[in-house]
Amino acid sequence: HPSNLQMEGSSGLRRADCRAKGGAPGFKVAILGAAGGIGQPLALLMKMNPLVSVLHLYDVVNAPGVTADVSHMDTGAVVRGFLGQPQLENALTGMDLVIIPAGVPRKPGMTRDDLFKINAGIVRTLAEGIAKCCPNAIVNLISNPVNSTVPIAAEVFKKAGTFDPKKLLGVTTLDVVRANTFVAEVLGVDPREVSVPVVGGHAGVTILPLLSQVNPPCSFTPEEINALTDRIQNGGTEVVEAKAGAGSATLSMAYAAAKFAAACLRGMRGDAGIVECSFVTSQVTELPFFATKVRLGRTGVEEIFPLGPLNEYERNGLEKAKKELAGSIQKGVSFIRN
Ligand code: NAI
Repeated sequence: HPSNLQMEGSSGLRRADCRAKGGAPGFKVAILGAAGGIGQPLALLMKMNPLVSVLHLYDVVNAPGVTADVSHMDTGAVVRGFLGQPQLENALTGMDLVIIPAGVPRKPGMTRDDLFKINAGIVRTLAEGIAKCCPNAIVNLISNPVNSTVPIAAEVFKKAGTFDPKKLLGVTTLDVVRANTFVAEVLGVDPREVSVPVVGGHAGVTILPLLSQVNPPCSFTPEEINALTDRIQNGGTEVVEAKAGAGSATLSMAYAAAKFAAACLRGMRGDAGIVECSFVTSQVTELPFFATKVRLGRTGVEEIFPLGPLNEYERNGLEKAKKELAGSIQKGVSFIRN
Protein backbone atom coordinates (compact mmCIF):
# COMPACT_ATOMS: atom_id res chain seq x y z
CA HIS A 1 0.00 0.00 0.00
CA PRO A 2 2.74 2.61 0.23
CA SER A 3 1.93 5.01 -2.56
CA ASN A 4 4.61 6.61 -4.67
CA LEU A 5 3.79 9.94 -3.05
CA GLN A 6 6.99 11.05 -1.40
CA MET A 7 7.09 14.13 0.67
CA GLU A 8 10.45 14.58 2.36
CA GLY A 9 10.85 12.23 5.28
CA SER A 10 7.91 10.03 4.35
CA SER A 11 8.30 6.33 5.09
CA GLY A 12 7.36 5.09 1.63
CA LEU A 13 10.64 6.23 0.09
CA ARG A 14 12.41 2.89 -0.22
CA ARG A 15 10.08 1.00 -2.49
CA ALA A 16 9.71 3.82 -5.02
CA ASP A 17 13.46 4.41 -4.98
CA CYS A 18 13.99 0.77 -5.96
CA ARG A 19 11.53 1.22 -8.77
CA ALA A 20 13.36 4.34 -9.95
CA LYS A 21 16.70 2.54 -9.91
CA GLY A 22 15.60 -0.76 -11.39
CA GLY A 23 13.03 0.60 -13.81
CA ALA A 24 13.30 1.80 -17.37
CA PRO A 25 16.21 4.14 -18.12
CA GLY A 26 15.16 7.71 -17.87
CA PHE A 27 16.09 11.15 -16.71
CA LYS A 28 15.59 12.89 -13.40
CA VAL A 29 13.68 16.10 -13.82
CA ALA A 30 12.87 18.83 -11.29
CA ILE A 31 10.23 21.53 -11.65
CA LEU A 32 10.83 24.61 -9.46
CA GLY A 33 7.58 26.51 -8.98
CA ALA A 34 5.60 23.31 -9.55
CA ALA A 35 2.46 24.45 -7.70
CA GLY A 36 1.90 27.49 -9.92
CA GLY A 37 -0.31 28.16 -12.89
CA ILE A 38 2.35 26.83 -15.25
CA GLY A 39 3.94 24.41 -12.80
CA GLN A 40 0.84 22.27 -12.21
CA PRO A 41 -0.06 21.42 -15.82
CA LEU A 42 3.67 21.13 -16.56
CA ALA A 43 4.00 18.56 -13.76
CA LEU A 44 1.10 16.65 -15.35
CA LEU A 45 2.74 16.71 -18.78
CA MET A 46 6.19 15.72 -17.50
CA LYS A 47 4.66 12.84 -15.55
CA MET A 48 3.36 11.62 -18.93
CA ASN A 49 6.80 11.77 -20.60
CA PRO A 50 8.22 8.23 -20.88
CA LEU A 51 11.80 9.59 -20.79
CA VAL A 52 11.29 10.81 -17.21
CA SER A 53 12.09 8.29 -14.46
CA VAL A 54 12.01 10.64 -11.47
CA LEU A 55 10.04 13.88 -11.18
CA HIS A 56 10.78 16.29 -8.33
CA LEU A 57 8.14 18.95 -7.65
CA TYR A 58 9.41 21.93 -5.64
CA ASP A 59 7.52 25.03 -4.55
CA VAL A 60 7.29 27.34 -1.56
CA VAL A 61 3.55 26.54 -1.27
CA ASN A 62 1.22 23.61 -2.01
CA ALA A 63 3.87 21.17 -3.23
CA PRO A 64 2.43 18.29 -1.14
CA GLY A 65 -1.01 18.56 -2.73
CA VAL A 66 0.24 18.79 -6.29
CA THR A 67 2.63 15.89 -5.64
CA ALA A 68 -0.09 13.67 -4.15
CA ASP A 69 -2.35 14.42 -7.08
CA VAL A 70 0.17 13.90 -9.90
CA SER A 71 1.67 10.81 -8.22
CA HIS A 72 -1.59 8.87 -8.76
CA MET A 73 -1.13 8.92 -12.55
CA ASP A 74 -0.24 5.40 -13.70
CA THR A 75 2.80 6.43 -15.72
CA GLY A 76 6.44 5.50 -15.09
CA ALA A 77 7.96 8.50 -13.35
CA VAL A 78 8.34 8.39 -9.57
CA VAL A 79 7.07 11.69 -8.15
CA ARG A 80 8.48 13.37 -5.05
CA GLY A 81 7.45 16.67 -3.52
CA PHE A 82 9.59 19.30 -1.82
CA LEU A 83 8.18 22.23 0.13
CA GLY A 84 10.05 25.42 0.97
CA GLN A 85 13.63 26.61 0.90
CA PRO A 86 14.99 24.06 3.41
CA GLN A 87 14.08 21.30 0.94
CA LEU A 88 15.50 22.97 -2.18
CA GLU A 89 18.81 21.13 -2.03
CA ASN A 90 17.16 17.72 -1.76
CA ALA A 91 14.86 18.66 -4.64
CA LEU A 92 17.87 19.43 -6.85
CA THR A 93 20.40 16.76 -5.93
CA GLY A 94 20.98 14.30 -8.77
CA MET A 95 18.78 16.06 -11.32
CA ASP A 96 19.54 15.88 -15.07
CA LEU A 97 17.10 18.60 -16.12
CA VAL A 98 15.70 21.49 -14.06
CA ILE A 99 12.69 23.44 -15.35
CA ILE A 100 12.00 26.80 -13.69
CA PRO A 101 8.54 28.40 -13.88
CA ALA A 102 8.86 29.99 -10.39
CA GLY A 103 7.91 33.63 -9.95
CA VAL A 104 5.09 36.11 -10.32
CA PRO A 105 3.23 36.49 -13.65
CA ARG A 106 1.97 39.69 -15.31
CA LYS A 107 -1.31 41.45 -14.62
CA PRO A 108 -3.00 43.74 -17.19
CA GLY A 109 -0.90 46.84 -17.91
CA MET A 110 2.36 45.25 -16.81
CA THR A 111 5.38 44.54 -18.99
CA ARG A 112 7.57 41.51 -18.36
CA ASP A 113 10.25 43.87 -17.09
CA ASP A 114 7.88 44.98 -14.30
CA LEU A 115 8.37 41.48 -12.85
CA PHE A 116 12.12 41.95 -12.53
CA LYS A 117 12.14 43.17 -8.91
CA ILE A 118 10.54 39.99 -7.55
CA ASN A 119 11.61 37.33 -10.03
CA ALA A 120 15.30 38.32 -10.24
CA GLY A 121 15.80 37.39 -6.60
CA ILE A 122 13.84 34.14 -6.95
CA VAL A 123 15.92 33.07 -9.96
CA ARG A 124 19.15 33.97 -8.17
CA THR A 125 18.24 31.75 -5.20
CA LEU A 126 17.24 28.83 -7.41
CA ALA A 127 20.34 29.17 -9.60
CA GLU A 128 22.54 29.14 -6.48
CA GLY A 129 20.88 25.88 -5.49
CA ILE A 130 21.53 24.39 -8.92
CA ALA A 131 25.19 25.47 -8.86
CA LYS A 132 25.58 23.72 -5.52
CA CYS A 133 23.52 20.54 -5.98
CA CYS A 134 23.32 19.69 -9.71
CA PRO A 135 25.89 21.85 -11.56
CA ASN A 136 25.76 19.56 -14.61
CA ALA A 137 21.99 19.70 -15.05
CA ILE A 138 20.46 21.28 -18.12
CA VAL A 139 18.34 24.28 -17.07
CA ASN A 140 15.15 25.39 -18.84
CA LEU A 141 14.37 28.90 -17.57
CA ILE A 142 10.78 30.10 -17.97
CA SER A 143 10.50 32.83 -15.27
CA ASN A 144 10.13 36.32 -16.74
CA PRO A 145 11.67 38.57 -17.83
CA VAL A 146 13.56 35.75 -19.62
CA ASN A 147 15.74 38.37 -21.37
CA SER A 148 17.14 39.25 -17.91
CA THR A 149 16.70 36.04 -15.88
CA VAL A 150 18.91 33.98 -18.22
CA PRO A 151 21.81 36.48 -17.77
CA ILE A 152 21.13 36.40 -14.00
CA ALA A 153 21.42 32.61 -13.88
CA ALA A 154 24.57 32.75 -16.06
CA GLU A 155 26.20 35.23 -13.67
CA VAL A 156 25.31 33.10 -10.64
CA PHE A 157 26.83 30.03 -12.32
CA LYS A 158 29.96 31.99 -13.34
CA LYS A 159 30.41 33.18 -9.76
CA ALA A 160 30.13 29.58 -8.55
CA GLY A 161 32.54 28.38 -11.26
CA THR A 162 29.96 26.01 -12.75
CA PHE A 163 28.80 27.92 -15.84
CA ASP A 164 28.38 25.80 -18.95
CA PRO A 165 26.74 27.92 -21.66
CA LYS A 166 25.48 24.78 -23.41
CA LYS A 167 23.29 23.91 -20.43
CA LEU A 168 21.43 27.17 -19.78
CA LEU A 169 18.40 27.67 -22.02
CA GLY A 170 15.75 30.38 -21.87
CA VAL A 171 12.39 28.98 -22.92
CA THR A 172 10.93 30.90 -25.89
CA THR A 173 8.95 27.95 -27.24
CA LEU A 174 5.61 29.63 -26.54
CA ASP A 175 6.49 32.33 -29.06
CA VAL A 176 7.14 29.62 -31.65
CA VAL A 177 3.96 27.75 -30.69
CA ARG A 178 1.93 30.95 -31.09
CA ALA A 179 3.64 31.82 -34.37
CA ASN A 180 2.89 28.36 -35.76
CA THR A 181 -0.76 28.66 -34.68
CA PHE A 182 -1.35 32.18 -36.00
CA VAL A 183 0.46 31.57 -39.30
CA ALA A 184 -1.46 28.32 -39.84
CA GLU A 185 -4.69 30.24 -39.25
CA VAL A 186 -3.80 32.75 -41.99
CA LEU A 187 -2.70 30.00 -44.38
CA GLY A 188 -5.72 27.84 -43.56
CA VAL A 189 -3.60 24.77 -42.76
CA ASP A 190 -3.03 22.46 -39.80
CA PRO A 191 -0.62 24.15 -37.31
CA ARG A 192 1.29 20.88 -36.99
CA GLU A 193 2.44 21.35 -40.57
CA VAL A 194 3.88 24.81 -39.94
CA SER A 195 7.25 25.77 -38.50
CA VAL A 196 8.08 29.43 -37.86
CA PRO A 197 11.52 30.42 -36.55
CA VAL A 198 11.23 33.07 -33.82
CA VAL A 199 14.51 34.72 -32.83
CA GLY A 200 15.76 37.53 -30.55
CA GLY A 201 14.32 37.34 -27.06
CA HIS A 202 11.09 36.90 -25.13
CA ALA A 203 9.38 40.29 -24.68
CA GLY A 204 7.60 42.71 -27.03
CA VAL A 205 9.76 43.84 -29.95
CA THR A 206 12.54 41.41 -28.98
CA ILE A 207 10.23 38.61 -30.18
CA LEU A 208 11.17 38.47 -33.86
CA PRO A 209 9.26 35.99 -36.01
CA LEU A 210 11.06 35.29 -39.29
CA LEU A 211 8.06 35.06 -41.58
CA SER A 212 10.35 34.90 -44.63
CA GLN A 213 11.66 31.54 -43.35
CA VAL A 214 8.39 29.74 -42.64
CA ASN A 215 8.34 26.08 -43.45
CA PRO A 216 6.66 25.05 -45.76
CA PRO A 217 7.69 28.05 -47.88
CA CYS A 218 4.86 30.57 -48.29
CA SER A 219 4.39 34.28 -48.85
CA PHE A 220 2.34 36.95 -47.10
CA THR A 221 1.09 40.40 -48.03
CA PRO A 222 2.70 43.35 -46.19
CA GLU A 223 -0.58 43.69 -44.21
CA GLU A 224 -0.45 40.04 -43.18
CA ILE A 225 3.20 40.39 -42.13
CA ASN A 226 2.38 43.43 -39.97
CA ALA A 227 -0.65 41.79 -38.38
CA LEU A 228 1.10 38.46 -37.76
CA THR A 229 4.23 40.05 -36.33
CA ASP A 230 2.15 42.22 -34.02
CA ARG A 231 0.00 39.31 -32.85
CA ILE A 232 3.01 37.03 -32.21
CA GLN A 233 4.81 39.78 -30.27
CA ASN A 234 1.71 40.54 -28.19
CA GLY A 235 0.25 37.05 -27.84
CA GLY A 236 1.15 37.03 -24.16
CA THR A 237 -0.62 40.32 -23.58
CA GLU A 238 -3.70 38.96 -25.41
CA VAL A 239 -3.91 36.24 -22.73
CA VAL A 240 -3.10 38.60 -19.82
CA GLU A 241 -5.97 40.88 -20.88
CA ALA A 242 -8.43 38.03 -21.44
CA LYS A 243 -7.60 36.65 -17.98
CA ALA A 244 -8.20 40.16 -16.61
CA GLY A 245 -6.01 40.00 -13.52
CA ALA A 246 -6.01 36.24 -13.01
CA GLY A 247 -2.51 35.82 -14.47
CA SER A 248 -0.80 35.17 -17.78
CA ALA A 249 -0.51 32.20 -20.13
CA THR A 250 -0.29 28.98 -18.12
CA LEU A 251 -1.82 26.14 -20.16
CA SER A 252 -0.29 26.98 -23.53
CA MET A 253 2.95 27.76 -21.66
CA ALA A 254 2.94 24.41 -19.89
CA TYR A 255 2.40 22.76 -23.28
CA ALA A 256 5.29 24.76 -24.76
CA ALA A 257 7.56 24.02 -21.79
CA ALA A 258 6.77 20.30 -21.99
CA LYS A 259 7.44 20.33 -25.73
CA PHE A 260 10.79 22.04 -25.18
CA ALA A 261 11.77 19.80 -22.25
CA ALA A 262 10.87 16.72 -24.30
CA ALA A 263 13.18 17.97 -27.07
CA CYS A 264 15.98 18.50 -24.50
CA LEU A 265 15.46 14.96 -23.15
CA ARG A 266 15.51 13.41 -26.63
CA GLY A 267 18.74 15.30 -27.32
CA MET A 268 20.20 14.12 -24.00
CA ARG A 269 19.31 10.55 -24.98
CA GLY A 270 21.31 11.00 -28.19
CA ASP A 271 18.56 11.42 -30.78
CA ALA A 272 19.80 13.18 -33.92
CA GLY A 273 18.46 16.36 -35.49
CA ILE A 274 16.63 17.87 -32.50
CA VAL A 275 16.24 21.57 -33.33
CA GLU A 276 14.33 24.17 -31.29
CA CYS A 277 14.49 27.94 -30.82
CA SER A 278 15.93 29.04 -27.47
CA PHE A 279 17.46 32.10 -25.77
CA VAL A 280 21.05 31.06 -25.10
CA THR A 281 24.65 32.26 -24.82
CA SER A 282 25.36 33.09 -28.44
CA GLN A 283 27.73 34.69 -30.91
CA VAL A 284 25.14 35.09 -33.65
CA THR A 285 24.97 38.84 -32.88
CA GLU A 286 27.21 41.15 -30.86
CA LEU A 287 24.98 40.48 -27.81
CA PRO A 288 26.06 37.83 -25.29
CA PHE A 289 22.62 36.13 -25.38
CA PHE A 290 20.23 35.69 -28.28
CA ALA A 291 17.45 33.31 -29.32
CA THR A 292 17.87 31.37 -32.54
CA LYS A 293 17.40 27.81 -33.68
CA VAL A 294 19.75 25.53 -31.76
CA ARG A 295 20.53 21.83 -32.06
CA LEU A 296 20.06 19.91 -28.81
CA GLY A 297 22.26 16.94 -27.96
CA ARG A 298 23.71 14.92 -25.10
CA THR A 299 25.42 17.91 -23.52
CA GLY A 300 22.70 20.51 -24.17
CA VAL A 301 23.12 23.12 -26.93
CA GLU A 302 25.50 21.48 -29.39
CA GLU A 303 25.08 23.84 -32.33
CA ILE A 304 23.73 27.35 -32.77
CA PHE A 305 22.31 28.15 -36.18
CA PRO A 306 22.83 31.52 -37.89
CA LEU A 307 19.88 33.83 -38.54
CA GLY A 308 19.75 33.00 -42.23
CA PRO A 309 18.75 35.52 -44.90
CA LEU A 310 16.54 38.33 -43.53
CA ASN A 311 14.41 40.71 -45.58
CA GLU A 312 14.37 44.45 -44.93
CA TYR A 313 11.37 44.27 -42.58
CA GLU A 314 13.17 41.64 -40.49
CA ARG A 315 16.48 43.55 -40.54
CA ASN A 316 14.66 46.58 -39.11
CA GLY A 317 12.98 44.39 -36.51
CA LEU A 318 16.36 42.90 -35.60
CA GLU A 319 17.83 46.35 -34.88
CA LYS A 320 14.90 47.22 -32.58
CA ALA A 321 15.12 43.84 -30.87
CA LYS A 322 18.86 44.14 -30.25
CA LYS A 323 18.50 47.64 -28.77
CA GLU A 324 15.96 46.51 -26.17
CA LEU A 325 17.72 43.19 -25.53
CA ALA A 326 21.04 44.90 -24.77
CA GLY A 327 19.42 46.82 -21.89
CA SER A 328 17.56 43.79 -20.50
CA ILE A 329 20.69 41.64 -20.58
CA GLN A 330 22.75 44.37 -18.88
CA LYS A 331 20.09 44.74 -16.20
CA GLY A 332 20.33 41.04 -15.37
CA VAL A 333 24.13 41.02 -15.34
CA SER A 334 24.27 44.11 -13.09
CA PHE A 335 21.82 42.56 -10.63
CA ILE A 336 24.41 39.92 -9.74
CA ARG A 337 27.63 41.86 -10.29
CA ASN A 338 26.68 44.99 -8.32
P1 NAI B 1 2.08 31.57 -10.68
O1 NAI B 1 2.10 32.71 -9.72
O2 NAI B 1 0.78 30.91 -10.96
O3 NAI B 1 3.08 30.44 -10.17
C1 NAI B 1 4.36 30.73 -9.76
C2 NAI B 1 4.76 29.71 -8.70
O4 NAI B 1 6.10 30.01 -8.30
C3 NAI B 1 3.88 29.76 -7.44
O5 NAI B 1 3.39 28.47 -7.13
C4 NAI B 1 4.83 30.26 -6.37
O6 NAI B 1 4.57 29.74 -5.09
C5 NAI B 1 6.16 29.78 -6.91
N1 NAI B 1 7.29 30.47 -6.31
C6 NAI B 1 7.40 31.76 -5.91
N2 NAI B 1 8.59 31.98 -5.36
C7 NAI B 1 9.26 30.81 -5.41
C8 NAI B 1 10.56 30.39 -4.99
N3 NAI B 1 11.40 31.24 -4.39
N4 NAI B 1 10.90 29.11 -5.21
C9 NAI B 1 10.05 28.26 -5.82
N5 NAI B 1 8.83 28.59 -6.23
C10 NAI B 1 8.44 29.86 -6.02
O7 NAI B 1 2.77 32.08 -12.03
P2 NAI B 1 2.75 31.36 -13.46
O8 NAI B 1 1.59 31.83 -14.24
O9 NAI B 1 2.96 29.91 -13.27
O10 NAI B 1 4.06 32.04 -14.12
C11 NAI B 1 5.35 31.73 -13.63
C12 NAI B 1 6.41 32.54 -14.38
O11 NAI B 1 6.48 32.16 -15.74
C13 NAI B 1 6.15 34.04 -14.38
O12 NAI B 1 7.36 34.73 -14.14
C14 NAI B 1 5.67 34.31 -15.79
O13 NAI B 1 5.91 35.63 -16.19
C15 NAI B 1 6.52 33.33 -16.55
N6 NAI B 1 6.02 33.01 -17.90
C16 NAI B 1 6.95 32.79 -18.87
C17 NAI B 1 6.57 32.51 -20.15
C18 NAI B 1 7.60 32.24 -21.21
O14 NAI B 1 7.25 32.16 -22.37
N7 NAI B 1 8.87 32.05 -20.88
C19 NAI B 1 5.15 32.46 -20.54
C20 NAI B 1 4.25 32.65 -19.44
C21 NAI B 1 4.69 32.94 -18.17
